[in-house]
Amino acid sequence: MIFELSEEHLAVREAAREFAQKELKPGVIERDSKMIYPKDQVRRMAELGFLGMMTSPEYGGGGMDTISYVLAMEEISKIDSSCSVIMSVNNSLVCWGLEAYGTEDQKRKYLARLATGEWIGSFCLSEPEAGSDATSQRTTAVDMGDYYLLNGAKNWITNGGTSRIHLVMAQTHPEKGPRGINALIVDTQWEGVAIGAKEDKLGIRSSDTHTIMYSDVKVPKENRIGADGFGFKFAMKTLDGGRIGIAAQALGIAGGAYELAVEYAKQREAFGKPISQHQAIAFKLADMATEIEAAKLMIYRAAWLKDQGMEYHAASAMAKLYASEVAMRATVEAVQIHGGYGYVKEYHVERLMRDAKITQIYEGTSEVQRIVISRNILDGQLYLPAFGGNVPV
Ligand code: CAA
Repeated sequence: MIFELSEEHLAVREAAREFAQKELKPGVIERDSKMIYPKDQVRRMAELGFLGMMTSPEYGGGGMDTISYVLAMEEISKIDSSCSVIMSVNNSLVCWGLEAYGTEDQKRKYLARLATGEWIGSFCLSEPEAGSDATSQRTTAVDMGDYYLLNGAKNWITNGGTSRIHLVMAQTHPEKGPRGINALIVDTQWEGVAIGAKEDKLGIRSSDTHTIMYSDVKVPKENRIGADGFGFKFAMKTLDGGRIGIAAQALGIAGGAYELAVEYAKQREAFGKPISQHQAIAFKLADMATEIEAAKLMIYRAAWLKDQGMEYHAASAMAKLYASEVAMRATVEAVQIHGGYGYVKEYHVERLMRDAKITQIYEGTSEVQRIVISRNILDGQLYLPAFGGNVPV
């Protein structure tokens, strides 16, 4: 078991850290407060290769492993989670999904432009009445022979106002339940796609989250991903990887708040000494550091399992569940350590606390992660019965 990062990993982490410090930090408070979309920053992320990190070079991506992607997500999220969610959706839900399950034509036509960041993508699963219960899709894709007629609405769509390509989950065979759902590649320039107003959110305020409406959109059959009825499995498999990205975002938010809290505690004095010298504060820092380290190990392991081609379904759910809860706790404590300063925008920690909350909600709430994990326990995949299963009950 080797816990050391490679030279390449360290270089990626350094590049992301430098980019975040130099190019994301300036203006981050204003972008958040005024909900300004980070257009220039997204263009720079494209130029630096952060939007298609794991995609093969053959399709314009960086050909990197999931650990590199996690390291970049972590550093960028320490400063600006609005940028990191844009990056995360494009990398793990859109590019990864297309590369893993798309046809060669789909990859040439769409992936090559998404991985370079020339186009941005959205993953359109959630609906007004299908959030956690994602099988209850009301959006329909009626089979019209050589095309699907797409109708319905999607909610909370990240990159909703800026993306050129949507991967849309829609029901084609309602009698088959989740096995009737298809995943379709939709170009937002097609007739019938309408974008609702930008949501005014608690956190990740500069990322663009919208409701999308589809009215009689004609989607060519060749834009279906996988076999007829593969859409729900496509969404679930893609989200397994997406959750590693959001776990890394949560880790970055926690890490950013922790770094600020340590710095503040070392320089702020009260009762005649730096507050870091008071056990009440030192113990908080110790707990934050311990939890962050535990979350990091879980996330890196989930990423490693994915890179090895091993099963990572439960590992990614556990990493996301734990890291998002750590992010919430660490940011609340960072605000507390900062006292009154923590409550004003200038000190960054209040933003990190607001941003942390979404990591417990999107790409599956904490409750959804617990469903995934508990099903793996009950399937007998997560423990070795030490007593050979012969425990009297
Ligand atoms: N891999 C492959 N197949 C999977 C799978 C996985 N990870 N998870 C489920 N499936 C399959 C099941 O095996 C089953 O297949 P069969 O019909 O062949 O048996 C089928 O999918 C249906 O699965 P379930 O019966 O388990 O479905 P369920 O209704 O009980 O739901 C759930 C399971 C885990 C709760 C799921 O609905 C879920 O993950 N919900 C949350 C959705 C979510 O994460 N939404 C986030 C939106 S995207 C987003 O937030 C992006 C953004 O903008 C930031």
